[in-house]
Parts: sequence; C-alpha cells; structure tokens
Amino acid sequence: GLPPRVRIHEVGARDGLQNEKTAVPTEVKAEFIRRLAAAGLTTVEATSFVHPKWVPQLADAEQLFPLLSDVPAELPVLVPNERGLDRALALGATRIAVFGSATETFAARNLNRTVAESLAMFEPVVARAKAAGAHVRGYLSMCFGDPWEGAVPVPQVVRVAKALLDLGCDELSLGDTIGVATPGHVQALLGELNAAGVATGRIGVHFHDTYGQALSNTLAALQHGVTTVDASAGGLGGCPYAKSATGNLATEDLVWMLDGLGIETGVDLAALTATSVWMAERLGRPSPSRTVRALSHK
Ligand code: HMG
Ligand code: MG
Repeated sequence: GLPPRVRIHEVGARDGLQNEKTAVPTEVKAEFIRRLAAAGLTTVEATSFVHPKWVPQLADAEQLFPLLSDVPAELPVLVPNERGLDRALALGATRIAVFGSATETFAARNLNRTVAESLAMFEPVVARAKAAGAHVRGYLSMCFGDPWEGAVPVPQVVRVAKALLDLGCDELSLGDTIGVATPGHVQALLGELNAAGVATGRIGVHFHDTYGQALSNTLAALQHGVTTVDASAGGLGGCPYAKSATGNLATEDLVWMLDGLGIETGVDLAALTATSVWMAERLGRPSPSRTVRALSHK
C-alpha cells in the first residue's frame, strides 16, 4: 500500500541554486525560501556551509541564513566538515546534513577525500552536531550510477550507507545524483538496506530527473514504505561536480502525483507553481517542470 502522508524535503534553494550560472542576489534567495515555506513546505534546505571556492553560488550563506529567522519551516544546511559546522552552529542552525559518496571518484571530486577519509571527516561533525541538539541528515551520492565508474553495486552502497548511519545520522537520503536509477533498482537497494538492518523510516529518496525516471522511482520507493522525498521547486538543479546531472525531481511534478493519489503533503500547488514561475523569471530561463509549464500556460 501507499503511505497516507509524505514529507517533502525541498532542496531547490540549495541543490537547485548551487548549479545555476546566474548569480542570485541573497535577498532573492531569502524571498524564494519564504515563498516555499508559505506554499506549505515544512522542510526547506537553505544553503551550504562549504568552501566558497568550491560552490561560489552559495558563498553568501552567512548573509542569507540570518534573513530566514522568521521562516516557519525547518531549514537544514549542508556541512562537510567541522569548519562548516562551526559556521552553521554560530548562526543557530538546528538541522545539518553531511554528504558522503558511495563511489571513490565522486568522493574525490566533491570532497577531495577518499570514501574512508570523508567518513572520518564527518565523524566529529555528526558527534558535535548531535551534542548540540541538531538533527543530522546523511546524504549518500551515486547510489545507482556514477558518471566515471558506471553502475554502482548495491552492496557497495549498503556498506557506505551503514557507515554513515553508524556515525549517528538520524536519517539517510539516497541520492541518484545523475538520475540513472530505474524502479527495480530502487526497490532492490531498499530491500538490501532493510536486510542489512536499516529501517525504511530512516530513509529518504533524492532523485534527479535526467532520464525522466524520477517520478517512477519515487512511486517505487513509496510502495516500499518510504515517506520522505526530496524534490526541487521548478526542477531546478544539478550538481557542479557531476557533469551529467540535471535538475532534481520537480516538487510540482511530485505534488501533482501525490495529490492524485490522495497522499497528503500540506503543499498548495498553485502557490508553489507561482513561486517557481517567479524564480524562473529571476533566473532568466523557463522551469523544466512539466507541471509548472502545464499549470502556468492555462
Ligand atoms: P579541501 O580543499 O580539501 O579543504 O576541500 P581543506 O580541508 O584542505 O581546507 C582548505 C582551506 O579551506 C582551509 O583554509 C579551510 O579553512 C578552508 P586555509 O587554512 O587554507 O586558509 N575550508 C573552509 N572554508 C569555509 N567553509 C568550509 C571550509 N572547509 C575548509 N566548510 C571541502 C574540502 C570539503 C571543504 C571541499 O571539498 C568542499 O567544500 N566541498 C563541497 C562540495 C559541494 O558542496 N558539493 C555539492 C553538494 S553535494 C550534492 O549536491 C549531492 C546531493 O544533492 C545528493 C545527490 O544528488 O547525490 C547532496
Ligand atoms: Mg542532488
């Protein structure tokens, strides 16, 4: 059966904007996040406390985060290391996310570390974040395929996923960074994670829509019992360190499907679509979301 309710983890302001060529003014980012929360999204990933040279699009995290103090949503932020954690905690962040990789090539390109070194880098981050009372998400990238290594074996993904959870992460987000997953692969990975002792309730899914499979993959995950789904308003996004990645599953496409299935999200689709149209105007290009296009050309 399908769950009665799904929690959408909105990543447009982070995964979306980190990959845009257009420099988005800090105040526009803040307004985007305010509008997303006003549309009913309860978890709106805000930015990343990473090295500013690695992701210049999010180099204004110190300026942006304080502008969000009145936003009625959880505002997780990405943090790769203790330096990032210090920056996030200093501003009062209460939800952080570390981000590991199932493959060595992407760990090297995204974090300048081996998989083992990146887990060692996260260890004090997770411990200190938990001690400070923060909620910790562990992202795992390249769970299905990797642009340099090809298909990623399920046992390899399970091993790194377990290691991330063993550090103390509250939840795990399975990233299909380059959007190559298909539904059978999703169910196989979820089944093997369960077999390895990982409860479905701790797992979220993070699909990119490169091959148009993101919604099918999401439905497969919902059928498996997953209730946390990452999506990006308007389908913004990609990943600067994985060239073939396109945008995430569009939040509007997800909400259209969930509304049709009678699954509650709390999201007002019209308000969300208006927000993505507004953002697309600021970015100077139309949203790639089919639902945004359909609803805004009536
Ligand atoms: P590094 O070059 O190895 O850094 O980069 P380092 O530890 O050697 O430090 C070098 C200098 O950087 C030092 O300064 C540090 O203080 C400074 P110095 O002493 O030389 O003056 N530094 C920092 N400054 C500010 N904030 C920090 C920070 N850390 C070090 N946090 C590092 C290692 C992890 C920092 C770098 O690789 C990095 O920032 N990577 C981030 C990459 C990224 O954000 N990628 C996108 C997010 S992942 C994603 O999109 C996938 C996801 O959506 C899921 C999916 O789809 O799969 C989540
Ligand atoms: Mg992503």
